[in-house]
Amino acid sequence: MKLAIGCDHGGYELKLEVMKHLQARGFEVTDAGCHDSSSCDYPVYAKEVTSLIQKGEAELGILICGTGIGMSMAANKEAGIRAALCHDVFSAKATREHNNANVLCMGARVIGAGLALMIVDTFLDTAFSNDERHIRRISYYS
Ligand code: RB5
Repeated sequence: MKLAIGCDHGGYELKLEVMKHLQARGFEVTDAGCHDSSSCDYPVYAKEVTSLIQKGEAELGILICGTGIGMSMAANKEAGIRAALCHDVFSAKATREHNNANVLCMGARVIGAGLALMIVDTFLDTAFSNDERHIRRISYYS
């Protein structure tokens, strides 16, 4: 599965941890930036990751900023993007099963790397349920 990942300065260190983990798991990961911890604007990187998904160059995306909130707001403005801000494993599983979320957002100032990696694994390892009721509900906003 092809993945895209992006962050701002607030998420840079956690992104490095997540990328190392994903590469160890054998995923092909496109790093859309940012590429160091100097101050930058999170919407730029939300756009980079979501456009890779829109073009079919990535199936799922991960966006990390300080809180995860700015990234999720920016990503959800983009067509075909269903971005979920998750800071617990239950939500990461439920949002794949129920919302068919295609972008996971996390806040590096909210959770530590240990929990973040569990959330990432849960998100990537959970499939959409394909239940008719969930397909119908997603169609309201997709
Ligand atoms: C950057 O200071 C911070 O505002 C950003 O990382 C994010 O938390 C925005 O939602």
